[in-house]
Amino acid sequence: MKLKYECNRREKQGHKSGSSSFHMHDPEAVFDLLALKKGDCFLDLGCGPGDYSLEASRFVGNTGVVYSLDRSELLINNLKRRVAEEGIMNLVAMVADATRRLPIEDGCVDICLVATALHIPGITRNAEALCNEIRRVLKPDGRLAIIECHKEDVSFGPPQHMRLSPEDSEGLITRYGFKKTGIIDLGYNYMIQFGVCRDNDK
Ligand SMILES: C[S@@+](CC[C@H](N)C(=O)[O-])C[C@H]1O[C@@H](n2cnc3c(N)ncnc32)[C@H](O)[C@@H]1O
Repeated sequence: MKLKYECNRREKQGHKSGSSSFHMHDPEAVFDLLALKKGDCFLDLGCGPGDYSLEASRFVGNTGVVYSLDRSELLINNLKRRVAEEGIMNLVAMVADATRRLPIEDGCVDICLVATALHIPGITRNAEALCNEIRRVLKPDGRLAIIECHKEDVSFGPPQHMRLSPEDSEGLITRYGFKKTGIIDLGYNYMIQFGVCRDNDK
């Protein structure tokens, strides 16, 4: 998988509009596991250029909605422009800080994706606030998917000391009301899925 989705592809396609993990692995593998359905509500937190959001908008269809949130006004404006140019009607892009109250109603999200953003120090440090907000906006049976870069020394992406191993990510998220439901190795990256803990899970 690492050979198929070379990082220079990511650099060519991602850097103009913000860094993205989307082209570092096979997006199909990610979306197969996310198993989005028509009508779903998908939240892309720290969406960057919005590649996952744009792909998700195809899966959820006209009856679904994609919320794309990032703290970068520039990236959100670029995404809004792209959405308008492509006539996409089911994607709402908003500037928001993932560690503060999100501009989203309680209990309406089926799947929240946090792709290569958890390792960012301002987010890692505020993992409790992040998890509380994600739990607030998720439906009771909603899911959280975390994509992160393996903790290895490579010439692209975050430096090794900032990276989170799968165990680091799992530890951070399960501390704040989530339980792990699955993990997949994506080559350079990995994705872990979580569900919300119920009282009888504790
Ligand atoms: C490495 S990029 C990943 C972008 C996208 N998730 C992807 O993988 O294609 C990390 C993104 O997180 C955003 N970010 C960092 N801290 C944030 C915060 N506190 N709230 C919202 N977004 C944040 C950055 O602006 C950046 O776009």
